[in-house]
Amino acid sequence: MARVALVTGGTRGIGAAISKALKAAGYKVAANYAGNDAAAEKFKAETGIAVYKWDVSSFDACAAGVKQVEADLGPIEVLVNNAGITRDTAFHKMTLEQWTAVINTNLGSLFNMTRQVIEGMRARKFGRIISISSINGQKGQFGQVNYSAAKAGDIGFTKALALENAKGGITVNAICPGYINTEMVQAVPKDVLEKNVIPQIPASRLGEPEEIARAVLFLAADEAGFITGSTLTVNGGQYMV
Ligand SMILES: NC(=O)c1ccc[n+]([C@@H]2O[C@H](COP(=O)([O-])OP(=O)(O)OC[C@H]3O[C@@H](n4cnc5c(N)ncnc54)[C@H](OP(=O)(O)O)[C@@H]3O)[C@@H](O)[C@H]2O)c1
Repeated sequence: MARVALVTGGTRGIGAAISKALKAAGYKVAANYAGNDAAAEKFKAETGIAVYKWDVSSFDACAAGVKQVEADLGPIEVLVNNAGITRDTAFHKMTLEQWTAVINTNLGSLFNMTRQVIEGMRARKFGRIISISSINGQKGQFGQVNYSAAKAGDIGFTKALALENAKGGITVNAICPGYINTEMVQAVPKDVLEKNVIPQIPASRLGEPEEIARAVLFLAADEAGFITGSTLTVNGGQYMV
């Protein structure tokens, strides 16, 4: 029986590549998104993957969304916490709204989503929880106190939850992408990318979304059951931990 995978933010960028790779590997896939209906409909038409709209920063919306996905596809066995946003600015100019939006979407969502599926995974003695953190959660980044704090939090979440569930067939891992060629990075001015970002990447290029999807597939596999609590770095050599 094909396993069921849910990818948050699964209709664009890295998440879209993850959704497609899981489908190609034989998973039954649900892709969540926040509000870009046009992108989600295009993704659905191109891939045949079911799309579901809700806000991962809302606990109640996650509860209702997961319930719907499970009614449609079956119990979720692989959860990919991928949805994320940036609201960059220097900390001394940061508003409470910019702080709260990023913490709730990039870190609060791990509670909101994982809490919905963990009891079922424990009962069935199988689960894969994979969260997309960031290089900037590992090393910090100018203008991203909110984002770096949330992404570092994702790693702590991963380690503690992995400990609690290691005996029960559930693995919990994080992936830290470096700079990946998506709309999130395309929002960085081209000259900043060329002069400041790419020269810091030993591989001399941005990563591609499919290169993160490859790491997700590796961790999602049944055969990856001994890998838990780990942080997998995929960054072209930019930061080595
Ligand atoms: N790109 C990079 O270089 C990079 C590097 C390190 C880590 N990451 C992390 O990788 C993940 C994906 O990044 P990306 O570059 O692929 O981003 P992206 O292209 O901006 O796509 C973000 C996706 O997340 C969804 N989303 C955003 N807020 C949401 C919410 N509140 N509820 C539900 N869905 C929400 C979006 O839905 P809509 O389409 O409806 O807006 C979209 O599908 C993020 O966690 C990001 O922090 C990215």
